[in-house]
Amino acid sequence: MYDKFGEEYNLTRINKKPERLFNEFLEIPCMIKAVGKIKNKKLLDIGCGTGDHAKKYLKLGAKVAGVDISKTMINISKVNCPDAEFKIASMNKLPFKDNSFEIITASLVVDYIKDLKKAFREVNRVLKKGSLFFYSDQSIISGAREKVRIDNKLYNVVGYIKDDNKEKTCFGNCWKSYVRTVELVPGMKVNQHVRPMRNHLFAIKQAGFELVDLIDCKPTADFKKYDPKTYKIYTKFPLFNIFVCKKK
Ligand SMILES: C[S@@+](CC[C@H](N)C(=O)[O-])C[C@H]1O[C@@H](n2cnc3c(N)ncnc32)[C@H](O)[C@@H]1O
Repeated sequence: MYDKFGEEYNLTRINKKPERLFNEFLEIPCMIKAVGKIKNKKLLDIGCGTGDHAKKYLKLGAKVAGVDISKTMINISKVNCPDAEFKIASMNKLPFKDNSFEIITASLVVDYIKDLKKAFREVNRVLKKGSLFFYSDQSIISGAREKVRIDNKLYNVVGYIKDDNKEKTCFGNCWKSYVRTVELVPGMKVNQHVRPMRNHLFAIKQAGFELVDLIDCKPTADFKKYDPKTYKIYTKFPLFNIFVCKKK
């Protein structure tokens, strides 16, 4: 899908359309803040997409490499960010030697990965001992939402209580593991894995990492300028989490 619709997807990123505000003014600034000082560090960005993160990491002085499974996305990254090194590759099989990087990031990619443990083992292999792996994903609470019709409108909620003939139904399920289909641009339907927290923690541990932080991402003030209503929602609960994992 990213191969087929990559150019259209990139345009929505450039134009900062409402559905892309979540990247520009929520995930990206949160990830940039999380990685902190990266000057002269060897950084790998997995699932680099349009190269937007790579561009920012370069500006902060890192030596940046990026991989993505999609050829279209890699071509866009090369144009957006000519000073980084990009390769077509999957997170499941990284074309680098053991202990090659001092930081590894993966923004909004693991929802496309079926076997988290396998992919994390590969990340662990190419990361130096004691170094950090930052990955973002839809937050646990966001993934737990369920659709409910209230006054003939559809809402995606956790915790709303419907009281039908004294029978109470609470929507949302934090234990549910499922695949959801999302349309990123018209016709671009992608399947994403939504996981409970335990699945993340298990894969992190099994792959040889220690979870050192879990960040709840908040939108920036710029988000508010474009879409104040959605901004307000995501100042109340996190749409994304960033998992910070240290190679043991
Ligand atoms: C939602 S986009 C995120 C792009 C970028 N990281 C960002 O946040 O702007 C997901 C990206 O992951 C890539 N991807 C999906 N499965 C992958 C895999 N197994 N290995 C590497 N990249 C993958 C897609 O091609 C796409 O570019």
